[in-house]
Amino acid sequence: MKTVVITGSARGFGLCQAKKFKELGCNVVLSDVNEENLLRAAKELESIGPAETKVIHTVCDVTDCAALEALWDLAKNTFGTVDIWINNAGVNSPDKPAYELTEKEINFLLDIDLKGTIYGSKVAFTGMKEQGFGQIYNVEGYGSNDAMMTGLTLYGTAKRAVTYFTLSLAKESKELTDGKICVCRLTPGIMITDFIKTANGGATKIELPEKTKKVYNILGDYPETIVEYCVPRMLANTKNNARIMWLTNRRAFGRFLTAGFKKRDFFS
Ligand SMILES: NC(=O)c1ccc[n+]([C@@H]2O[C@H](COP(=O)([O-])OP(=O)(O)OC[C@H]3O[C@@H](n4cnc5c(N)ncnc54)[C@H](O)[C@@H]3O)[C@@H](O)[C@H]2O)c1
Repeated sequence: MKTVVITGSARGFGLCQAKKFKELGCNVVLSDVNEENLLRAAKELESIGPAETKVIHTVCDVTDCAALEALWDLAKNTFGTVDIWINNAGVNSPDKPAYELTEKEINFLLDIDLKGTIYGSKVAFTGMKEQGFGQIYNVEGYGSNDAMMTGLTLYGTAKRAVTYFTLSLAKESKELTDGKICVCRLTPGIMITDFIKTANGGATKIELPEKTKKVYNILGDYPETIVEYCVPRMLANTKNNARIMWLTNRRAFGRFLTAGFKKRDFFS
């Protein structure tokens, strides 16, 4: 039975992945900075999946390397191995041009989206090197492919760096472990979660412009849909440097082609 650790898994994409992994027979370690949501998520997961699967949870702030080490230790000591570690925790940036961002807002986002992913990868890689195997997934986002838009400069900078870091860590893994540790990218596309409505850890509301809503209605999906595609592929993957990608160019093209017939509306 595989063990999966997911950061930022008290809601949204992280929680949906956790549910799917458990449904497919994995032990799951939930972790998040939000304890209230975490407890609710853990309760929800208990009744999902085969009876022999287990869920445990712990508060873990990804900006704290020691907390991530404690998360690894908890998972390893409880289940014996960690097969898959997903650096999923992330926050959106406030919808304003980069020059208007405060120092606090800049540090808040980079600490979670970029440094949190680096810390999580470092901790998981160290543990997996000792156990001799494992998979690390880092979550890409807007900017990973060099896309640019006013209001998303900081977030895009972090996600572009996450992509570079993941590719380079995969190269290191090839050289240092012969690819036994698979360092991979998870590319969900646009997801209809609370993420798109808030920034600064929920403190700042984001009012989506009508033209953005239009694009989200065409290209977006609920995370429940995306995990149906991604999670089985992550479980089946054996390759270092893999990329599990939901919103491919082909899928996006198809969505634009059929947008006139399919009136999708996530916002009314
Ligand atoms: N929603 C989208 O359109 C979208 C698109 C592409 C990529 N992503 C990425 O997917 C991931 C999940 O996004 P989501 O839409 O589920 O967001 P979400 O806001 O619904 O969930 C994020 C979770 O991360 C947690 N979190 C925040 N700061 C944390 C910290 N310091 N330590 C630990 N946990 C923390 C939150 O409490 C929350 O439970 C993020 O990395 C995001 O950048 C999102």
